Amino acid sequence: MHFPKSVRLYEVGPRDGLQNEPEIVPTAVKIDFIERLVAAGLRDIDVTSFVSPKWVPQMADHGEVMEGITRKADVSYSALVPNMRGLEGALRARADEVGVFVSATEEFSQKNINCSIGESFQRLEPVVAAARAGGVRVRGYVSCVLGCPYAGDVVPAQVVPLAKQLFEMGCYEVSLGDTVGVGTALQVQNLVEAVGSAIPVENIALHLHDTYGQAIANAFAGLQMGIRVFDSSVAGLGGCPFAKGASGNMATEDMVYLCEGLGIETGVDMAALLAAGRYICAQLERPPMSKVALALNARRL
Ligand code: HMG
Ligand code: MG
Repeated sequence: MHFPKSVRLYEVGPRDGLQNEPEIVPTAVKIDFIERLVAAGLRDIDVTSFVSPKWVPQMADHGEVMEGITRKADVSYSALVPNMRGLEGALRARADEVGVFVSATEEFSQKNINCSIGESFQRLEPVVAAARAGGVRVRGYVSCVLGCPYAGDVVPAQVVPLAKQLFEMGCYEVSLGDTVGVGTALQVQNLVEAVGSAIPVENIALHLHDTYGQAIANAFAGLQMGIRVFDSSVAGLGGCPFAKGASGNMATEDMVYLCEGLGIETGVDMAALLAAGRYICAQLERPPMSKVALALNARRL
């Protein structure tokens, strides 16, 4: 089996993780958390989202968080944006990159952003163009690629045209989101094969939630298919407030452990990553969901 020399881990804990917490995490804690993730070696950080605070109050301090971080030149600080207003906020906050998101099902599109899939593309087309005109990279997400909490099964034929449209619109990378974490390895391989026939596989990332405990197996399946970019979240934080039953993301610790075992470089220092996870879990007053973090933290004691 041929594995790559390195992979890029895209840390979504501060955004995907903290958007789903019942309590609003103080701004100063978010900033500290992000700086600890950077200190652990992560170079792509999804910092926040410029979405409506009425919909997601946990991200209402987006501007303050972006402003408060001490930036490092070799780190990309990104923000999710749902519309032009969100983009304007992200540009004012000097985001290095923005993420736009669509859904593979009409049902989730309505729940998440209150419009149809077609309307979401109409809304996003000028957003992507304006971001690029402002010199900001755009990443596209497709949610519910392996299943939807409202519509049930999703097949690759639903996802392929959406990924293609995002890529052709100007997204440099399309992250395929198993939002509810229901997918299994063969499904991932079939999906990557199908999407990879429409856009280059090097422009595809996987965003795997771990609800059914399949995220790391699914990431391995993706690695075998040539995927080199994986979204993950320290301590396995995460979820979407509009996806019923969804739990956290693939834990960054789990992915780093897998990669270390396969001889794949991630650039991440496990001890510093564990410390960042312990920091945020202490703030949230609960243990990490990462089995690797639980095992290594126990050994440390
Ligand atoms: P809407 O209610 O249909 O739109 O929401 P609206 O234009 O009528 O706006 C409603 C209110 O929000 C208005 O305020 C707007 O001004 C304001 P009011 O006039 O009532 O006082 N507003 C905004 N405020 C701040 N920033 C903005 C903004 N836009 C409008 N950008 C909207 C439509 C898209 C805004 C709303 O549905 C929304 O914000 N949704 C966000 C949902 C969200 O954040 N979901 C989680 C992220 S996606 C995810 O987690 C999946 C992912 O991880 C991948 C995966 O797992 O699959 C990426
Ligand atoms: Mg997500």
